[in-house]
Order: sequence, then C-alpha cells, then structure tokens
Amino acid sequence: MEKILLTGGNGFFCTRFAQRYQNTYEILSANTSMLDVTNEAQVNETIKNFNPDYVIHAAAKASTDFCNENPELAYKINVTGAINVAKACKEVHSKMIFISSEQVFNGNTNGGPYTEDVTPCPDTVYGQNKLEAEGLLKEILPELWVLRFTWLFGIPERNCGMSANILWGTLTDILKGKKSLVTPNEYRGLTYVHEVINQFPKIFQIPYGTYHVGSHNDLSRYDICTLIIKEVGLEHRLNELLGKDLEKYKNHTRDIRLCTDKIKSFGLEFSESADGVKKCIKEFKLKL
Ligand SMILES: NC(=O)c1ccc[n+]([C@@H]2O[C@H](COP(=O)([O-])OP(=O)(O)OC[C@H]3O[C@@H](n4cnc5c(N)ncnc54)[C@H](OP(=O)(O)O)[C@@H]3O)[C@@H](O)[C@H]2O)c1
Repeated sequence: MEKILLTGGNGFFCTRFAQRYQNTYEILSANTSMLDVTNEAQVNETIKNFNPDYVIHAAAKASTDFCNENPELAYKINVTGAINVAKACKEVHSKMIFISSEQVFNGNTNGGPYTEDVTPCPDTVYGQNKLEAEGLLKEILPELWVLRFTWLFGIPERNCGMSANILWGTLTDILKGKKSLVTPNEYRGLTYVHEVINQFPKIFQIPYGTYHVGSHNDLSRYDICTLIIKEVGLEHRLNELLGKDLEKYKNHTRDIRLCTDKIKSFGLEFSESADGVKKCIKEFKLKL
C-alpha cells in the first residue's frame, strides 16, 4: 500500500480525506499535537520515520482575520512550516502536495476566472503567505504539486473537523432563526469537499506543477444562498431567511474565481458549484 502523511490532520479537509482512503492507502493523519509543522526537528523525525510516498501539506492558519491580526505567527505556520515539510520530503524522496488557495488572487482587480498564468497579487496576510510558500517550495522540491483550492463546502460529519463554508453557514443561520444578509457582488468557485477528495488518486498521476482545483461558478454568493434555501425545501420562506447586502463590494464586484481548464485537460472534472451544492444536499438528505 502506498503511504500518505497528512499535516493538519484534525482539519476539515484531512479528516474527511483520511476516512475516505483509510482502506486504500496507509495514512498517517498527523494533528498539531503529533506534528507541529513549526517544529523542524519533529517534522524531520516524523517524515523520516513514516517514509511516506506522498505528503499532503494541509496544515495552515487559514482564517484571513486571524492571519491579518497575527502576521508573525501566520508566517511561521503558513510559510516556515511549509518549508520545514518540503525540506523533510526532499530528504526521504517523498512527493509533496501543497494546498494553496484562490486567496492568492484576492488583490487582483481584473476579475476571474484566473488561469495559472495570471500573476497573483494577494492583499491579505493569508494570501501572501500562501503565494510566498508556493514560490519557496518550488525552489526546494521538484516533486511538488501546488493545488490552489477554491472555497470548499460541506456539512458536519462524524469525527470530522469543520471550517466556515457557505452551505453550513447558510444552514446555521436558518437553524438559529437569523436572516442571512448576503452580497450579490461576489463571485467565487465553491466546491463540494468530497468532490475534491475523490480526485486525489488522479491528482497523483498528473505532472508536477501548479493547478487550480475545484468548481466553476457563474452564480453570485447571493444566488448560491438562494439555491441552498430552495434545495432544502424552504423556498416559501426565502424573503424571511435571505436578504441582499447591497453595500458590500458595491463599487467593485469581487471576483476571485479560478479557471480550472488546466487540471481538466488531465481528465479531472468538477461539477458546477450549483450542481455540487445540490449533490451535497441530496447525499446528506438535507430537508428542513
Ligand atoms: N477550506 C477551504 O475552503 C480551503 C480553501 C482553499 C485552501 N484551503 C487550504 O486547505 C488546507 C486545509 O484547509 P481546511 O479547511 O481543512 O483547514 P482547517 O480545518 O483549518 O485545517 C487546518 C489544520 O491545520 C492545523 N494547524 C494549524 N497550525 C498548525 C501547526 N503549527 N502544525 C500543524 N498543524 C497546524 C489546524 O489545527 P488547529 O485547529 O489546532 O489550529 C487545523 O487542524 C489549508 O492549508 C487551507 O489553507 C482550504
């Protein structure tokens, strides 16, 4: 069995990944207490001892606000931690997957969908950390895939981590009886987390390099929330549950969508975001 080491093992992505592939790969899903990526000696020892075929480096501080408020700590985890992992991978000839983000484009003003050829101009610490780490890792390790994910969504699952996402955020507001105020002036790719996870055996077969990963989406954030409310059976309460935030991004539409044609050319297809939302709601039989 091939071996995979996951960093950030308690997180939203890794917990689901480890469950999905527990019988396919030998997986070491390392949470922060087992493997703190800022601890270079611990990283070296853990990777040397497990000797994985692949290291999926997902550990990060991924909250934009947290990173802006704690830039030194964010750098230490998001950049120095990634370097530690890449150097250790090089020592034992493990292939590395670095999970980057659409947020590298959050300061670009032309609007997406961005291809891998567009130069990113991040304007948050998190986006800057991811972009800097991408560049430094490429210098350390030739056997590297950089995967820039769109915004992932999913719902709580048994023994799995959660992170903020559009589907669970909308459902939580409904359950709390809170009206969601959502901008119609924002466009992002929104990808069902299990769709990304399911593609990994194929990802291990594509050439090393940088790839934009996830769903394309022509709907605004407001339109997606409308769809969620309809799909869970609450269309009759739409006006009570959802309102438009017309102030946010009113002077400049925010569009950080990724063009995923490059990865598609290697046979990796993703649903449109609307179809991904419908699929998730159907799979979990979500009706309110
Ligand atoms: N979810 C998305 O929509 C999305 C989109 C684009 C890119 N990404 C990237 O995908 C990766 C996984 O995202 P996710 O949603 O699964 O995030 P997540 O749930 O926040 O998971 C990240 C994990 O990293 C851990 N971590 C933090 N500091 C660490 C350290 N020093 N050493 C080891 N682990 C540490 C966190 O543990 P603590 O909770 O203990 O801090 C957390 O369990 C991240 O790199 C993120 O930047 C995610």
